[in-house]
Amino acid sequence: MPAASNPTALALFLFLAAAASSAPSAAAAYANYTVGGNSGWLFNETTNATSTNYTAWAASQTFNLGDYLLFNTNSNQTVIQTYNLTTYQACSVDDADDDDFFQYGGGSDQFGQALSVAVPLTHESTNYFFSNADDGVQCQSGMRFQIDVQHGSGLPPSLNQPPPPPYATPPGPGTAESPPGTAVNAPGNSGSGGGAGVRGAAWGGVSLLLATLFF
Ligand SMILES: *[C@@H]1O[C@H](CO)[C@@H](O)[C@H](O)[C@H]1NC(C)=O
Ligand SMILES: *[C@@H]1O[C@H](CO)[C@@H](O)[C@H](O)[C@H]1NC(C)=O
Ligand SMILES: *[C@@H]1O[C@H](CO)[C@@H](O)[C@H](O)[C@H]1NC(C)=O
Ligand SMILES: *[C@@H]1O[C@H](CO)[C@@H](O)[C@H](O)[C@H]1NC(C)=O
Ligand SMILES: *[C@@H]1O[C@H](CO)[C@@H](O)[C@H](O)[C@H]1NC(C)=O
Ligand SMILES: *[C@@H]1O[C@H](CO)[C@@H](O)[C@H](O)[C@H]1NC(C)=O
Repeated sequence: MPAASNPTALALFLFLAAAASSAPSAAAAYANYTVGGNSGWLFNETTNATSTNYTAWAASQTFNLGDYLLFNTNSNQTVIQTYNLTTYQACSVDDADDDDFFQYGGGSDQFGQALSVAVPLTHESTNYFFSNADDGVQCQSGMRFQIDVQHGSGLPPSLNQPPPPPYATPPGPGTAESPPGTAVNAPGNSGSGGGAGVRGAAWGGVSLLLATLFF
């Protein structure tokens, strides 16, 4: 007798199918979004054109705590993250407090060096992103977007850490030699910002310290 014609077997099949389809969605609670999709995070200085409309890209997505934005870019652009609308509208960090923004990339003195930057979304609020390269021309020409980060499943344990300890001097000129895939801390940023890896490492240190204190 075919399983489908047996009510009990059919019910069991439907139950297993439902369980199977719901299991991956729990695992996929956190998502990574590639900014601009295949267009990447790029600006053409000859045409003053962005490689895609980032406002439109951002508007087509939903973002939650613990998700990452992945910027596929090069050292001709920067990635500035801020929660401060004034800084965003200025297309500049010149008047911003050091702890009011994070800068990723742009630390290289070589043009066009490939760079991949991963930015974790850790604030349930409006997040602003822009490139401050070319004295704000890139940003004014569309290298910027804002997103509203929702609560979703909340921060995962890996990101749910105490704030990073006070700022430490960034690595020296060797930073410019960092291979693609490394978030480079620009010399201009003396704030608490750093690559996600830098902050993750710092938080790891803090949790280790806390663990030592408690156990
Ligand atoms: C998202 O990106 C982060 C940072 O690069 C990485 O650690 C994580 O494994 C990625 N998650 C997925 C689902 O690709
Ligand atoms: C910028 O645009 C010009 C004109 O379309 C093109 O020739 C050039 O290759 C572009 N530059 C980059 C880096 O894509
Ligand atoms: C690009 O934009 C800047 C600032 O708006 C302007 O000075 C420059 O002439 C523009 N270049 C082109 C090719 O449109
Ligand atoms: C980019 O997309 C936004 C939202 O769809 C739209 O309002 C805006 O006019 C677009 N910008 C350009 C330069 O096309
Ligand atoms: C945003 O930055 C400006 C300086 O650029 C500062 O005056 C203002 O207090 C900041 N706003 C908040 C909410 O921190
Ligand atoms: C980076 O900027 C330099 C200087 O403006 C330019 O010559 C080069 O073509 C750019 N490279 C890319 C990949 O956009």
